[in-house]
Amino acid sequence: MTPELVARLTDEMRYEYSRTAPPAGFPRFPDIPVGRFVSDEFWDLERRHLWTKVWVIAGRSEDAPNPGDFFTFDDLGSPMVLVRGNDGELRAFYNTCQHRGAPVVRDAKGSARLLRCQYHSWSYDIDDGHLVSVPDERDFVGLVKEERCLATVRCEVWDGWVFVNQDPQAVPLLEWLGPVARELDAPPRCAPWPGAARWCRATGRSRRRRSWRCTTSGTSIVGAVRACSTTAVP
Ligand code: FES
Repeated sequence: MTPELVARLTDEMRYEYSRTAPPAGFPRFPDIPVGRFVSDEFWDLERRHLWTKVWVIAGRSEDAPNPGDFFTFDDLGSPMVLVRGNDGELRAFYNTCQHRGAPVVRDAKGSARLLRCQYHSWSYDIDDGHLVSVPDERDFVGLVKEERCLATVRCEVWDGWVFVNQDPQAVPLLEWLGPVARELDAPPRCAPWPGAARWCRATGRSRRRRSWRCTTSGTSIVGAVRACSTTAVP
């Protein structure tokens, strides 16, 4: 963002927070149809054309602080498990066993040295998802373990927020966030934004438990900014 743009946005924010009524001539908008929030058909369209292609917050880094710690993320309709490897990196895999598709972890959160499917105990490495062991492996004619790794999901962390992206061709997270990340990181010119980040941190856990309709709703973002209005406008 240029200094001019920042100044203009700051002026507009001051104006927005100071006014007590709609601007003169402001139109009356119709209510958003309730289907936008509850329609399965609309959700399917979003999932197909939007949520499989963008970075989405799956949790906080501190949800899995130590090697082997994991948590699941199912909000996008494709079950995932995010696990911290022995090298300290967080990675995401589809929570789907490469034997017969059972979940490799069933708890929402936990810690494990291997990701072991409870169905027939195929076990996967926490660092790269490769298939480590198969009970009675001798009976699986033609099994090539290297071809049965857990499928990976793009995963990147920014400011403690863990993002996933199902599109292997997606641009890196920081590139996708663009000026948002820079502005949120920048002191002190953007005094409002550290407040916004703190607000998000403080409420992140409860927000994760809400439905996709709330976590992805623009009103949440507006709410985040309004909630820190005391720091947003000096
Ligand atoms: S489905 Fe996972 S081990 Fe068989």
